[in-house]
Amino acid sequence: MNVKWWQTTVIYQIYPRSFQDSDADGIGDLKGIIQRLDYLEKLGITAIWLSPVYKSPNDDNGYDISDYQDIMTEFGTMNDMDELIKQADKRKIKIIMDLVVNHTSDEHKWFIESRKSKDNPYRDYYVWRNPVNGDVPNSLKSIFSGSAWEFDDETGEYYLHLFSKKQPDLNWENEKVRREVWDMMNFWLEKGVGGFRMDVIDLIGKLPDEEITGNGPKIHDYIQEMNRETFGKYDVLTVGETWGATPEIAKLYSDPKRNELSMVFQFEHISLDQQPGKEKWDYKPLEVNELKQVLSKWQTALGNEGWNSLFWNNHDLPRIVSRWGNDTTYRVESAKMFAILLHLMKGTPYIYQGEEIGMTNYLVKDISEVEDIESVNMYNERLANGYQKEDIIASINFKGRDNARTPIQWDRTENAGFTKGTPWLHVNPNYQEINVETNLDNPDSIFYCYQKLIKLRKDNPIIVWGDYELVTDTPQQVFMYLRHYEDETWAVVANFGEEIETVQIEHLGQSNKIVINNYERSTVNFQKLELQPYEAFAVKLKEKRLTIG
Ligand code: GLC
Repeated sequence: MNVKWWQTTVIYQIYPRSFQDSDADGIGDLKGIIQRLDYLEKLGITAIWLSPVYKSPNDDNGYDISDYQDIMTEFGTMNDMDELIKQADKRKIKIIMDLVVNHTSDEHKWFIESRKSKDNPYRDYYVWRNPVNGDVPNSLKSIFSGSAWEFDDETGEYYLHLFSKKQPDLNWENEKVRREVWDMMNFWLEKGVGGFRMDVIDLIGKLPDEEITGNGPKIHDYIQEMNRETFGKYDVLTVGETWGATPEIAKLYSDPKRNELSMVFQFEHISLDQQPGKEKWDYKPLEVNELKQVLSKWQTALGNEGWNSLFWNNHDLPRIVSRWGNDTTYRVESAKMFAILLHLMKGTPYIYQGEEIGMTNYLVKDISEVEDIESVNMYNERLANGYQKEDIIASINFKGRDNARTPIQWDRTENAGFTKGTPWLHVNPNYQEINVETNLDNPDSIFYCYQKLIKLRKDNPIIVWGDYELVTDTPQQVFMYLRHYEDETWAVVANFGEEIETVQIEHLGQSNKIVINNYERSTVNFQKLELQPYEAFAVKLKEKRLTIG
């Protein structure tokens, strides 16, 4: 088997704006990241997915890029970026760049030219359409609320923006656009980056006139061309953000035979607390049984025709410990439970900054405290549609993106050690209790649980390669699975509830070979196993293959 480095690694996502400020302007920066590389090395990760650091007017915090080959002023310079790559490399950490090419900023030079006139050489770099009966060309909606079409006075046409109006969509059908993107990607590859996380990549094959956005007909031609023209020649990781992916779709992107991407991010599990057919803001409680079904389906469906990415959190999602765990009484237990459950599955785990110390959501009282454009636009739209203010704020507190974007809590000093200036976004007041320093001082902390999980993955091929089997005969709140590899079987057990739960699986017997746990426990007896609230552990079973199904 041709083993790839990204199959055995654990990746850490940095949202630079909130990671570490080094120059007291209240905004995290590249020098700040360099200062913290030793911390990441101690955690044990070997790759960083860096959210965008390119030049940007920050309508969507860097996901609106005005120059792909320059660095955002607040974050530093290209020299700092080169230094980051170098310093990370010294610690055997690769830097994965965020590739945002579904759209640019409206302040990108291509768009500035494009909007000037209909015969401008850059006109076709974007998607322009005539008005229809004096109105928008069709009913396509922006993911950030309102129509996806914006009228431009200059030439009397509409341009497409699937996100904010300051994020015009590139026209991927134009070969020149693709050439520009390949050149830009090669610029970064030549600098020695470890790969790309591809922002909303399933949208680039869109057919706007037919109102097709995700997974359009040409998408795989474009990705194959991209692979050929850019990263195919390098040993890098590529991960596509694909909100609508099913396992079948994921295989199209990540089957090694197709020469496309290493893996995709699927969002099926993370969408389970959303009312069917409604928006993410319309939430319903998680059914643990559904989570078991969905994650297990992904664990087994890809086979050798794809590779899973494993995650609970990122910069677009609320923090899992607040979302599906308990961020007060059982914060530490539930944070570790989520870590153990996910990190012993098959795939490449991603940790989002602050997750490894159990950071929690930040609750706002008023919209004036919210920075995120998605939440603000939704608030205004729903208010205009008659929703109650309190209900909108409640959904922002539960699902809004700012929850995960508050500055990293490093220590107990002012602003949690994130900045000596005024932080761009509120620091969570619980930083006195929840911070990196207190985690590092306590051998039983969430940090050391993550550190151990990362090391276990490095040392045990069963975690990387073992077969996965869901154990169905458990109480609803208990998520239990087995991993099988050669002659070995491990059991991973996690209680999602706050009640004591009992598991009885006679033939699995008893074992004292506990690999990792979040409660004191020296032995496991499957004949009658009592689980504490949010208890989770992994245990080695007898040295022979034991199956349930
Ligand atoms: C992706 C990013 C998100 C961004 C959007 C538009 O979903 O993760 O943060 O707002 O794309 O670029």
